[in-house]
Amino acid sequence: MRITPEILQQLQAIVGSSFVFTDIETRNQYGHDETEDYVFPPHVVVKPENSLEISEILKVANTYKIPVVPIGARTGLSGGALSVQGGIGLSMERLNRILHIDEQNLQVTVEPAVITQVLREAVAEKELFYPVDPSSMGSCWIGGNVAENSGGARAVKYGVTKDYVLNLEVVLPTGEIIWTGANTLKNSTGYNLTQLMVGSEGTLGVITKIVLKLIPKNRHNVLMLVPFYNANQACEAVSAIFRAGIVPSALEFMERDALDWTLKFVDNLSVSVKDGIEAHLLIEVDGNYPDILMIEAEKILSVVEAFEIDEVLFADTEDQKNALWKMRRSVGEAVKSNSVYKEEDTVVPRYELPKLLKGVKDIGKKYGFESVCYGHAGDGNLHVNIVKGTMTDENWKSEVPKGIRELFELTVALKGTLSGEHGIGYVQREYMDIAFSKVQLELMERIKFVFDPNGILNPGKIFPQ
Ligand code: LAC
Ligand code: ZN
Repeated sequence: MRITPEILQQLQAIVGSSFVFTDIETRNQYGHDETEDYVFPPHVVVKPENSLEISEILKVANTYKIPVVPIGARTGLSGGALSVQGGIGLSMERLNRILHIDEQNLQVTVEPAVITQVLREAVAEKELFYPVDPSSMGSCWIGGNVAENSGGARAVKYGVTKDYVLNLEVVLPTGEIIWTGANTLKNSTGYNLTQLMVGSEGTLGVITKIVLKLIPKNRHNVLMLVPFYNANQACEAVSAIFRAGIVPSALEFMERDALDWTLKFVDNLSVSVKDGIEAHLLIEVDGNYPDILMIEAEKILSVVEAFEIDEVLFADTEDQKNALWKMRRSVGEAVKSNSVYKEEDTVVPRYELPKLLKGVKDIGKKYGFESVCYGHAGDGNLHVNIVKGTMTDENWKSEVPKGIRELFELTVALKGTLSGEHGIGYVQREYMDIAFSKVQLELMERIKFVFDPNGILNPGKIFPQ
């Protein structure tokens, strides 16, 4: 449906004409996220101030059957915020307040456009901890984190976004405004609408308020970087650490290329990588008692020393810790700057990680592509970056999708799934038949229909076409 002058007038009447944009620069700006180089501009960008305005916009969209795409910080990696069918780009940017930090109940109520790191710092001032830390936490928004059920490095000990969401205010695609649950830690009352919204990638409702659980801040951590001569052994060491009785607060894997490219990409990082090193594990333990952390770190050391490793680097100072984390968080951007690429977000049960890594490399050989892998090894979550490098355009188009399909088939055969934390969005939807049967997909489609009978909210996502 075309956005007619009459519809534009209605949108302007709702949010004010200074918050409706039809110029091509703004539309292009809101037409991309961090997913490869895709650009799908909405026909109009609208910037509402609150849930009431969003409700009115959705009612107009329903009347005229216009697609509406909720748009956050546009840091997503699966194209969830791309306006693939045009329509209204609903920027959430003006809903950007931390409404209430409840120090009595250890909770925070927040609007969606608060930067995740800003939220973490605000609660930290009250000695509270919001542990979920996606690599993009300096720029991503909490609303997008909820929509995609984002994870990050600390998920291995503290869980992902879903584990902190207690209650949500949501504008339904048909315009009603609801709360999904209660501000309680336990809730066995009816279907769990809160968790249905989490990870629904902006297809079931527009999230306008979020109540999150917080935990007390802890005071100490120990961080070490362990170089492995064999990448598969690095993966084997991951489950061995847990089996030795330790739950690290982070357990990250980086293949050699990931590290080399990042060291080139980020200034002032001084980590030297010896010849022959294939991969690193970045391992952190945290808590309140340094003595206990030292015991845990020694235990980890004894586990990794059973493998072929080089000298372990312990970060002594805050600066060193920050540098190592900056390095790890920059891997994605470094890969992106290096080559045309496709990123997969495979996740398997942790012990299967060596089989997944080996499979990635075998499949790459079969279809003629190189890959750089890194990610949240403690969660069995491997970010597989397929890099174009010197591959011809023709092979990139014809061979890589076959390779990706085979990779996902392997992932599912290992009892894993397609995406651990980036979502299905636009780019992974054609592979959903690997993870789900027809019956399962139809169940999901029927849920979508109950919420959104006209299919206006974020169409062209999640479901295979
Ligand atoms: C990371 C993002 C890409 O782990 O998920 O860096
Ligand atoms: Zn990640």
